[in-house]
Amino acid sequence: MTQRVAIICGGRSSEHEISCISAGGVLSAIDRSKYEPVLIGISKSGKWFLLPANHSLALSNGVLPTIPENGISVALNADGFIAAGENLNIQIAFPVLHGPYGEDGTIQGLLEIADIPYVGSGVLASAVAMDKSFAKPIFASHGIKTAAGFVARQSQWKAGQAAIQKAADQLGYPVFVKPARGGSSRGTTKVKSAAEFASAINEAFKFDTKALVEQEIRGAEIECAVLEIDGVAKASIVGQIKIDPKYDFYDFEAKYLDGATTIELPAPIDQKLSDEIRAKAVDAFISLGCSGLARVDFFLTPNNEVIINELNTMPGFTATSVFPKMWAATNVTYTEVVSHLLKTAQSRTNGVLGN
Ligand SMILES: Nc1ncnc2c1ncn2[C@@H]1O[C@H](COP(=O)(O)OP(=O)(O)O)[C@@H](O)[C@H]1O
Ligand SMILES: [Mg+2]
Repeated sequence: MTQRVAIICGGRSSEHEISCISAGGVLSAIDRSKYEPVLIGISKSGKWFLLPANHSLALSNGVLPTIPENGISVALNADGFIAAGENLNIQIAFPVLHGPYGEDGTIQGLLEIADIPYVGSGVLASAVAMDKSFAKPIFASHGIKTAAGFVARQSQWKAGQAAIQKAADQLGYPVFVKPARGGSSRGTTKVKSAAEFASAINEAFKFDTKALVEQEIRGAEIECAVLEIDGVAKASIVGQIKIDPKYDFYDFEAKYLDGATTIELPAPIDQKLSDEIRAKAVDAFISLGCSGLARVDFFLTPNNEVIINELNTMPGFTATSVFPKMWAATNVTYTEVVSHLLKTAQSRTNGVLGN
């Protein structure tokens, strides 16, 4: 008997299109001898629709896929997924969603209420990982180094800029200013002098009411994929992000413009260092109580200090994304990754009483 899997994609976040491409990847990779996919799209305005399994989720003629604003409505409530008055009898949900309402614990909570096993981290881990101001102190308390810095709230900034400006000056420029719950580098600025600070923090506040101000870490950006296999969190080989030197840092354009960035797999670093990073990736995963999968991003400084930058609980998941690529380089195929995720989902360790 195959199990019915709801692949949920699109959503209200700015990563709507990336989510659709990721879902297309999952649809083509899922092992159909074990699983029957049911495609559910969330439009940009937040409406849920049942889509035909052949709905195009690929990039075609340079046009990114999106979820249309019409179709057969789907509701998710305590009875499960309902469309046109029928229960869709979904046994596992795979929310292939990024950012707010997808990766931040909200849809995970809805799935908990509906009692449907789902892929990925649970409510708490998803919410904590999404908010860097909460994740960083947890990493630090587990002995994983983070960048020095502080949290600045928009209300504090409005009440008095001088104290926050002074704290930034004390960190020493350059500093990075970024929204606490950001993604895709949106709202992130490298600030080179005190004079540039105010506009950078105002930019971050366009995306969130809370900003992080951090000392610049100079070093390579190294990523490691964590996947739970039969109840054990395993780390992939590590990769190094290679950014076209015309970019100041790994900003939005460097991330998404064709050819601006590549990942070198394995990262050209000593075995001892890559083992240290892999161990820290697993520690980070466990420290937040993650489940299923995560991509853990680090800096490696010239004097071989390993500093965690962030942990993503639903990393880019297209066939060409870093996460599946890192597993392919570790001899786990995309289809196997999806099967491990669906199997782990059913163990429910991500549930509210899990981790
Ligand atoms: N403290 C820092 N030092 C150096 N570079 C940083 C720092 N913080 C962020 N960056 C740069 O900005 C990019 C985006 O920041 P990140 O915290 O990963 O946010 P996002 O969630 O948007 O990916 C990083 O990949 C890195 O290039
Ligand atoms: Mg990042």
